[in-house]
Amino acid sequence: MKSLVVYYSLTGKTRLVSQVIAEALNATLLEIEERRPIPMPFVYLSGSFAAFMNRGSKINPVDVDLKQYERIFIGSPIWASRPAPAINSFIYKTNFEGRSIIPFFTMGGNNAEKALENITAKIEKSQGKVVGSFAITSYRVPDEEIIARAKEAIKEYSS
Ligand SMILES: Cc1cc2nc3c(=O)[nH]c(=O)nc-3n(C[C@H](O)[C@H](O)[C@H](O)COP(=O)(O)O)c2cc1C
Repeated sequence: MKSLVVYYSLTGKTRLVSQVIAEALNATLLEIEERRPIPMPFVYLSGSFAAFMNRGSKINPVDVDLKQYERIFIGSPIWASRPAPAINSFIYKTNFEGRSIIPFFTMGGNNAEKALENITAKIEKSQGKVVGSFAITSYRVPDEEIIARAKEAIKEYSS
């Protein structure tokens, strides 16, 4: 099954997990980039507010033919218990009809429930079918451990 991993990452943790998935499943990697990223530390306030309001942000053009991929992993950090605005933009702009989607998060805390509910509703509104999900805590977790947890999380998608 051909897979795509689409992700947004501000500080590298979601990128790391995305790279692990892409390598393990031989998937294509696609990074969503903001046209004008909000610098630290302002992002904590204005980024969280935008995420909380379910806003999108201006992202660089995405050039991908989704029809090539049966399965799409969508990765984001959790911001204010929601997906990041850049990933919202990608989801809002995309029609996922016929695609199986697996959203995943990295997060500072350890509760992804609200964020998963939120992103699932958005994906379904864009015609996607959510077939799985997972979340990985990154705060004070060494990269080697994040990599190990990512490998564990995607075992069930390896067949
Ligand atoms: C603006 C902002 C808001 C955040 N809000 C949350 C939150 O509500 N819950 C949480 O668990 N982590 C929160 N975090 C922590 C990130 O989700 C976590 O560090 C994540 O792994 C970062 O991923 P990245 O390195 O790919 O950007 C927030 C981080 C930022 C920058």
